[in-house]
Amino acid sequence: MSKIILTGDRPTGRLHIGHYVGSLRRRVELQNSGEYDKTYIMIADAQALTDNADNPEKIRQNVIEVALDYLACGLDPAKATIFIQSQISELCELTFYYMDLVTVSRLQRNPTVKNEIQMRNFEASIPVGFFTYPISQAADITFCKATTVPVGEDQLPMIEQCKEIVHKFNSVYAPENPVLVEPTALIPANKACLRLPGTDGKAKMSKSLGNCIYLADSADEVRKKVMSMYTDPLHLQVSDPGHIEGNTVFTYLDAFCKEEHFERYLPEYANLDELKAHYTRGGLGDVKVKKFLNNVIQEELEPIRNRRSEFEKDIPEIYNILKKGSEAAREVAAQTLSEVKSAMKINYFEDVELIRSQSEKYSK
Ligand code: TRP
Repeated sequence: MSKIILTGDRPTGRLHIGHYVGSLRRRVELQNSGEYDKTYIMIADAQALTDNADNPEKIRQNVIEVALDYLACGLDPAKATIFIQSQISELCELTFYYMDLVTVSRLQRNPTVKNEIQMRNFEASIPVGFFTYPISQAADITFCKATTVPVGEDQLPMIEQCKEIVHKFNSVYAPENPVLVEPTALIPANKACLRLPGTDGKAKMSKSLGNCIYLADSADEVRKKVMSMYTDPLHLQVSDPGHIEGNTVFTYLDAFCKEEHFERYLPEYANLDELKAHYTRGGLGDVKVKKFLNNVIQEELEPIRNRRSEFEKDIPEIYNILKKGSEAAREVAAQTLSEVKSAMKINYFEDVELIRSQSEKYSK
């Protein structure tokens, strides 16, 4: 069986380093690993509209931002099909048919949806499109028969729900010859990468809280954000013993730092464990640790920023890449949709046997 990657992001803003360590970095590695037959990367504009219906301009503006962030990180249109969700109308058709296989109560139990409804104060007035987006996400994943979906931890319930839809579809409509493929989620092995906190230590990174480091931030912006990061509120004097747990600077180091960074930027320590031990003992100041973190993050972000500014020079070409990607994705979606429709027995005009047997019935 082919190994196929699909994943995507809602274009509601520029991508930040939480996206990067949570999924983007991994995608680029997977794309380059040569182990996968196909890689699809989707800009989920239609999904973004499910809770931004009154703000289409925001979504429209951010499609290009996300595309630039993708290319800057090293996603390569020669190796990966990068496309825009709304341009694949087959996805709506798939969603419509999958809706028959999911109950309202099952959607209500989806932890991600539950959580998001709360966050958006949607309790009293949930848009139907938003409520059903896990079904549309199953269409996103299955149109290309994806086997592997690299995502952040928060997306696990979506993949679970998708698997159920695939299972149900195949057992109801195609028990002998399964049409759809059950995907597997791929989440980061590094715990710090699962959910990188905001620079203020809050669990959620969000634009409105102003606690994100964006991939497109300038070196200066990144430095300012790192230097003002939340650390250990009890670590008042350098000599005080410090706490690692819940200390954002150390969580970021867990996500970004490698041993080689110590040789380059902080040779007094061999590795992160030694640094942590000194901090815990007392005698190590926050500023020193922050400066080190700044060096580590700058090293990772600089090539991304430079590539981004190259791509920014030819915006029409970026749209062209997205257009070509969308055309390629659409062909694949049309093929899957046709298999889905024949499994569901709604392929009247291609079914010679149907027409023959019906005419036989009436010729008697
Ligand atoms: N729900 C995902 C997010 O909010 C975006 C997304 C849409 C997605 N369709 C997908 C992710 C399919 C993986 C697979 O980040």
